[in-house]
Amino acid sequence: MGKVIAITNQKGGVGKTTTAINLAASLAVLEKKVLVIDADPQANTTSGLNFDPDDKRKRTLYEVLIGQLDIRDALIQTELDNLQMIPSHINLVGAEFDLVETEGRESVLKNVLAPIRDDYDFIFIDCSPSLGLITVNSLTAADSVIIPVQPEFFALEGLGKLLQTIRLVQDGVNPNLSIEGFVVTMFDGRTKVHSQVVGELREHFGDMVFKTIIQRNIRLSEAPGHGKPVIMYDVTCSGTANYMNLAKEVLDRNSAEDE
Ligand SMILES: Nc1ncnc2c1ncn2[C@@H]1O[C@H](COP(=O)(O)OP(=O)(O)OP(=O)(O)O)[C@@H](O)[C@H]1O
Ligand SMILES: [Mg+2]
Repeated sequence: MGKVIAITNQKGGVGKTTTAINLAASLAVLEKKVLVIDADPQANTTSGLNFDPDDKRKRTLYEVLIGQLDIRDALIQTELDNLQMIPSHINLVGAEFDLVETEGRESVLKNVLAPIRDDYDFIFIDCSPSLGLITVNSLTAADSVIIPVQPEFFALEGLGKLLQTIRLVQDGVNPNLSIEGFVVTMFDGRTKVHSQVVGELREHFGDMVFKTIIQRNIRLSEAPGHGKPVIMYDVTCSGTANYMNLAKEVLDRNSAEDE
């Protein structure tokens, strides 16, 4: 059955979307069948994979969550054969309100995903920088979470609130939720505080921190403007190599778990 991984951190701009797009694309290149779900009304994954968030067809995660559209009719094929996407739209903000009265409101995404889980090896959910109902739905639907961490001074303090939310979900609707790993993003070896924060992160979380570190790389910020994962934009850049290594690490961790 496909593994569902939420990419989450309520801190904004830490590399969630960049990780969702490029980890998903790297696994697709490694011949895994991958789906990426844009669960953020900002719709950055949507436009980063070359789909117009203002498309008039209205076949986005929002229509799926409110029960207007079958999830299969929301699937978009990306430029990469093995990579599909479910787009977002700014109207996803409304789902927070629309779902409040729904019975089992935390489990709506989990339920709509069930019929297509087996079609994929990995399903990534790009979360918004909030801990609202849509993010709780993502954590409820997920088997594990990847937490991107930008190695700035306050990075660790912000993690407390996130880990608390994960614990609440574990104690409530999703006891099997695990932490796949923390991934350091936008790393710059010349910046002293970056190395310090990575050291602290490893001290606190040990092997839960991925060995792969995502370096700061301008190509990673340019690629979404061209509607492409970085591997389709510049195959030789460090961003491509870093996310490919992260993909291999995720595969290794999961094959070890399967044994
Ligand atoms: N390794 C990197 N090197 C250079 N720029 C990067 C890198 N990772 C992300 N960025 C850039 O940093 C900005 C924030 O990244 P991203 O959108 O992935 O973060 P996010 O956590 O999804 O943000 P939000 O919380 O708003 O959803 C973007 O402009 C992105 O292109
Ligand atoms: Mg984002």
